[in-house]
Amino acid sequence: MTSTKDHIYSAIIIGAGFGGLGQGAQFVQESVEDFLILERGEDVGGVWRENTYPGAACDTQALVYCYSYFLNVKVSRMFAGQEELQGYLRSMVQEFGLNKHIRYGQDITASEWDQARCLWTVHTADGSQYLARSVVAAWGQLNEPNMPDFPGTDTFEGVAFHSSKWRHDLDLTGKRVASIGSAATAVQYVPEVAKIASNLTVFQRSANYILPRDQYIFSEEESRQFQKNPDAYRKLRQEIHEFREAGFERTRRHTAASEEGVQLAREHLENQVSDPELRAKLTPDYDFGCKRILRSDDFYPALTRGNVELVTEAITEFTPRGICTADGVEHEFDVVIYATGFHSHAFQGSMRVSGRDGIRLEERWGNAPEAYLGITVDQFPNLFLIYGPNTNLNHNSVVSMLEAQHRYIAQAVEYIAADESRVLEVDRAVLDKYNAHVQNELEKSAFSSDCSSWYKNEDGRVINNWCGTVEEYRASTHDLQLDDYLQLAESGQAR
Ligand SMILES: Cc1cc2nc3c(=O)[nH]c(=O)nc-3n(C[C@H](O)[C@H](O)[C@H](O)COP(=O)(O)OP(=O)(O)OC[C@H]3O[C@@H](n4cnc5c(N)ncnc54)[C@H](O)[C@@H]3O)c2cc1C
Ligand SMILES: NC(=O)c1ccc[n+]([C@@H]2O[C@H](COP(=O)([O-])OP(=O)(O)OC[C@H]3O[C@@H](n4cnc5c(N)ncnc54)[C@H](OP(=O)(O)O)[C@@H]3O)[C@@H](O)[C@H]2O)c1
Repeated sequence: MTSTKDHIYSAIIIGAGFGGLGQGAQFVQESVEDFLILERGEDVGGVWRENTYPGAACDTQALVYCYSYFLNVKVSRMFAGQEELQGYLRSMVQEFGLNKHIRYGQDITASEWDQARCLWTVHTADGSQYLARSVVAAWGQLNEPNMPDFPGTDTFEGVAFHSSKWRHDLDLTGKRVASIGSAATAVQYVPEVAKIASNLTVFQRSANYILPRDQYIFSEEESRQFQKNPDAYRKLRQEIHEFREAGFERTRRHTAASEEGVQLAREHLENQVSDPELRAKLTPDYDFGCKRILRSDDFYPALTRGNVELVTEAITEFTPRGICTADGVEHEFDVVIYATGFHSHAFQGSMRVSGRDGIRLEERWGNAPEAYLGITVDQFPNLFLIYGPNTNLNHNSVVSMLEAQHRYIAQAVEYIAADESRVLEVDRAVLDKYNAHVQNELEKSAFSSDCSSWYKNEDGRVINNWCGTVEEYRASTHDLQLDDYLQLAESGQAR
């Protein structure tokens, strides 16, 4: 077994995506220097390291999909591609000197709270252990691929892969390709694959609301201005932020704003698809905002190409040659791409997290993960979640939520680090009251209405999404309120 150094870090951050790197940068700015970032991959980037499919790009404007203290002024376009976003994160590592804090290839398998020593022990797959006063879990919500287990999957003689494990070694030119899924990921790669495949069949279980994306490429002059005068960038960023915030109202059920969203999506569909049968198939039958609202200018046109077919019959099984649908048709393929999303409900990645008295996080949560401000959980002292339960957004940039979390967590970690007996555990009553409010608000939201989405658990409870605007979340997380926490002494008893 590789053993640890016995050093006790102020904090260990798990994950080097937007969430973990942003926390590291926040620590550096607050002069918390004694921390590590443990990442199982061999590079930074998180979802932007993993999702390299053709057309991968952010669908919230890049000007708001970056940190306020490290503006992405060099970005070439409004909806930046995967390489540019990963490049941004790499430059963040340089800017804040994060390299000396990052350990790659560290697949964390378990984290345990040691009550007697008021410490976390973090275990990795290679047998290493690390000790820390606080753990910041930035393991993401969208990195465990969901591969539905259709009957006969193993018999398929072609090649099959998940969109986040794109087979760049495989040339799709002239191939008969299937795409299972038609949501945020599929709408980005389908237009690209359609250009080269001999035939592309898109299997759609539910239609999506799609708005125009209106990609905009910055001129050299605009780029120069952004770099020379970041205030112009900041002003535009603020305008985009306010525009996106206003969009939150569209995700409230039975509002004029939500009806306006439906209209905009309908107009976009009608402008791009003239065939009434295809239009009908592409018209959603649920509330606007129940699933992620997509933005694309080239998905509908791709579906109207002669070599592309949209199939809405349910998939019943795989065969050696392809996929059978409920109407009895066998569709033959060389390649099947799963754009079927991620296991987004675990909130603890694949690891075992044991808190006070050995309680496991999955035992505490059952199928309904919850956390105060999406950050802290009772019985898990000095554990802070990034992008935790009820912090995902549909209407604006997740990065703006992460930044609020980083500031809050930095306050907590600094407080804990100041005295070796300091322990913060959220009061269960505080969490319960908070969560009752969040769930109550979510009742009014399209997120809780009737459609299949990764925002909800099997009981229909919204566990991924935040219930309000970014500004509301910023206000809730602005100051660490020590009164919300039991401050436990070394014995583990509340003082
Ligand atoms: C294709 C795609 C596009 C997206 N586009 C947008 C967008 O346009 N706008 C938006 O607001 N949001 C978008 N999102 C949501 C996105 O998840 C967030 O914006 C944000 O990037 C999340 O960052 P994160 O660091 O929390 O998680 P991740 O990026 O998932 O990073 C988590 C990191 O933790 C590491 N990790 C996990 N488990 C372990 C372990 N056991 N041990 C060690 N390391 C571990 C992973 O390897 C990974 O590097 C998109 C998501 C996807 C999948
Ligand atoms: N920046 C971007 O533009 C971007 C790009 C990619 C991803 N993302 C983020 O990542 C999230 C996940 O996106 P995603 O598109 O990868 O996954 P997703 O939103 O979960 O969509 C999965 C797709 O697969 C279908 N599907 C799932 N299981 C199926 C089954 N058993 N049979 C048939 N179809 C099935 C779903 O149909 P149903 O709709 O019927 O469930 C849906 O069309 C997004 O919501 C977004 O937050 C963002």
